[in-house]
Amino acid sequence: MQRLSDGPVYQIQTMWRTMLRLHRSCVAPYSLFNLPRQNLTSLRGACPQAIVSNGAAHFSSSVFGENDKGKRPLRIALCGAGTVGGGVCEIMLSRGAVLESMGYWIEIKKILVKDIAKERDFDAPAGVQYVTDLNEILNDDEVDCVVEMIGGVTTAKDIVFGAIQKGKHVVTANKALVAAHMSEIDALLEDQPQVRFGFEASVCGGIPIIHGLQRTFASDSINRIAGVFNGTTNFILSKMELEGKQYHDVLTEAQALGFAEADPTADVGGYDARSKLCILARLALGVQLDESKVSLQGMEMITADDFIYAKKLNCSIKLLGVVEASEGKVTCAAVSPMLVPQENTIAKVHGATNIVEILSSSLQRSFLIGEGAGRLPTANSIMADLTQISACDMPKMPFLLRQDLEVCDDFDGQFYIRIRVKDELGIIRKAGELCEKHGISVHAIYQEPWKDPTNMPFVLTTETTAHSNVEALCADLDQEPFTVVKTFHMPFLAQ
Ligand SMILES: NC(=O)c1ccc[n+]([C@@H]2O[C@H](COP(=O)([O-])OP(=O)(O)OC[C@H]3O[C@@H](n4cnc5c(N)ncnc54)[C@H](OP(=O)(O)O)[C@@H]3O)[C@@H](O)[C@H]2O)c1
Repeated sequence: MQRLSDGPVYQIQTMWRTMLRLHRSCVAPYSLFNLPRQNLTSLRGACPQAIVSNGAAHFSSSVFGENDKGKRPLRIALCGAGTVGGGVCEIMLSRGAVLESMGYWIEIKKILVKDIAKERDFDAPAGVQYVTDLNEILNDDEVDCVVEMIGGVTTAKDIVFGAIQKGKHVVTANKALVAAHMSEIDALLEDQPQVRFGFEASVCGGIPIIHGLQRTFASDSINRIAGVFNGTTNFILSKMELEGKQYHDVLTEAQALGFAEADPTADVGGYDARSKLCILARLALGVQLDESKVSLQGMEMITADDFIYAKKLNCSIKLLGVVEASEGKVTCAAVSPMLVPQENTIAKVHGATNIVEILSSSLQRSFLIGEGAGRLPTANSIMADLTQISACDMPKMPFLLRQDLEVCDDFDGQFYIRIRVKDELGIIRKAGELCEKHGISVHAIYQEPWKDPTNMPFVLTTETTAHSNVEALCADLDQEPFTVVKTFHMPFLAQ
């Protein structure tokens, strides 16, 4: 074995760069001086840290860092080659050379999949090895960074935790995993201070919200994050609003178009948005929310009638995640359908688009809008993490400083309450009495002239009150003989 001294290596590097340039301008894509591309890939590794044995180059196994930047590629292993993993391969093939010329030198070495025989709808860069055994990645000293794009919280957890423990950088698209294990990931990273952890793709697909919070907003003081973090719910609610359709009809349409899963519970039930809210709360406010205690209401009870009333109130209806803090307390952490005043930009974002609103001391009100899912938007966020890691420009503390804020288990707001009743005398009087019982002041009452007297929706809006008061009121209303369908309530998003 011969270790290359700096002098010859420098010459080899210079020669290699020249060959690479020639290769890129060459008409035949896979040959240069009759060398197959695979050989070129291994030649590319010939830089100061390379060790040459029997003509093949490999690298020492320390964590990729400042000393490696620009001298050798960040060698990555993709775990998962489905929608997102395929997108990463596509971007690497189309933009890899441009990225390299900008100083982001990244090379895919291995791809972990479940079924190696499966036909793929993308091309992997030349020389990439497909594997099914995770240990072939975790135990490979030539893999600097592991990219988890499998999903779920079992194998994915083994991958993420195992890679950090092995001193490999990690990038993941997995919001469920990050939301559930932020504290443990933090602890693992403390033991591996040179390892970097990227999770831009885990919240709102292609929107650069994580990097924004880690950088631009790090010097600002955020007091509220609110937004549409799930494209499926926005697609359904937008169609209900714009086309006057009922929830179940639009859900079926969304499933046929591929905008909703066969089992849509995670999306329409608000669970997906809640995981994302917990990640954003940690980054924006430094608070670790207990996901199971975040107030959660899905959108399954919304009907076309609610949009008729929403229009009267000059509002749109969106399934929002909101986390808010003031005076050292988290005063609201909730996922629910909410009435959004039309003057708020959130109300105007339709289709599967996502939007995040950030209220902060210095920047005041900011919005990030974009594609919240999909192959290339999500893969682009993975690439954004990889470029930062390859440039040694990823923050050391991914979740920023932790603060022990008190988290209130209730929140205040103005509410919309829709009661479906069979027509009889004294309904408004009784509803008023129950509001008084729960300390709720009624702001207004709305009733459209409905045709079916056995099932008529009418609506109360309230002055500011506690969510728990409204829940208790709705439970009482449901006991009344005139109530024919479970009473529905949602908050207004405060301006
Ligand atoms: N799709 C999106 O728009 C989107 C947006 C944001 C975030 N994400 C997140 O990105 C992640 C990946 O999503 P996706 O849509 O790309 O998933 P996907 O299309 O279902 O692909 C999953 C990939 O993981 C592989 N895989 C699954 N289980 C495995 C196992 N036990 N061992 C080895 N490989 C395994 C599969 O291998 P085979 O191909 O051999 O079956 C497949 O290549 C998820 O965490 C998701 O929440 C997705």
